[in-house]
Amino acid sequence: MSKLISLTGIKPTGTPHLGNYLGAIRPALELRKKYDTVYFIADYHALTTVHNREEMRNNTYKVAATWLALGLNPEEGLFYKQSDIPEIFELSWLLSCFTPKGFMNRAHAYKDKVAKNQAAGADPDDGVNMGLYGYPCLMDADILMFKSNVVPVGKDQKQHVEFSRDIAERFNKHYGKNIFTLPEPVIQAETDIIPGLDGRKMSKSYGNTIEIFLEPKELKAKIGKIVTNSQQIEEPKDPEKCHVFALYKLFASEEQAAALAARYLAGGMGWGHAKEALRELLEEHLAKPREKYNALLADTTQIDKILAYGAEQARAIAKPFMQEIRDTVGIAAN
Ligand code: TRP
Repeated sequence: MSKLISLTGIKPTGTPHLGNYLGAIRPALELRKKYDTVYFIADYHALTTVHNREEMRNNTYKVAATWLALGLNPEEGLFYKQSDIPEIFELSWLLSCFTPKGFMNRAHAYKDKVAKNQAAGADPDDGVNMGLYGYPCLMDADILMFKSNVVPVGKDQKQHVEFSRDIAERFNKHYGKNIFTLPEPVIQAETDIIPGLDGRKMSKSYGNTIEIFLEPKELKAKIGKIVTNSQQIEEPKDPEKCHVFALYKLFASEEQAAALAARYLAGGMGWGHAKEALRELLEEHLAKPREKYNALLADTTQIDKILAYGAEQARAIAKPFMQEIRDTVGIAAN
């Protein structure tokens, strides 16, 4: 029996941090055990907001290097760049012709932007380009082109996947043919609980992140900034109330976590010791990926090759499927 397909879209924005790794990248890579996987870089989605050439190029390489360094195997499943698959854009247009405009009005990224504009007394559509407005239609094409059964996403993207399902269903019904597979959003719950330096959710907007590939010295300095209380060395400490321990636990084996918890409870361990334990554990997990990440970015031809290979494989699926879809709506297949 062939496995179900899981599809993950990665928007190339910014430098990824441990919150991204633990909340999104690591669980997405775990999916390989259960599903046939599709991973792609959603660069044309990023273009709705990133209008700087260097930033776009660098972010795309950085995000590709990140996933490859953390274990994405391009031989296993698909890994490509959205912009390399022109059929996705053709499908996006076609689907937009079946998408009620009201859906886009309700799409939450757009709605948030309008609400912000209104609060600021600006024109409701200030700073909204058509790409941003139609963002969900491009996502529909991403998802439906590869017959995705499940789409792991953060809470904020759930609505978009539900739109895809709705539109796939309408299209299938209208033409009396099961062309599109109905996708299911799978919500990644863990994302909320990864603490940043100040204990709030790790997020770029709070400025409390620890980037994944910091050099050893910078990593040590960042860990030093994790907020702790003013308990003295000799006092016993509650591991469950400590952000250092919370991060440690997310990387540690059960035995490692239990051993450090015991040191907290026993007293005689200062915050510096706890931070050192975290640093060692992070080095253990991230030193190799960091090496790989740096090597991939030092010579990007390898990434280019991997993405070209992925594009070829993805197009071998997208091209005939697009023909079938064109034929279904009465537009010549060739
Ligand atoms: N919009 C997603 C995000 O901001 C990225 C994305 C683009 C995506 N296309 C997708 C996610 C298709 C899942 C499926 O993170």
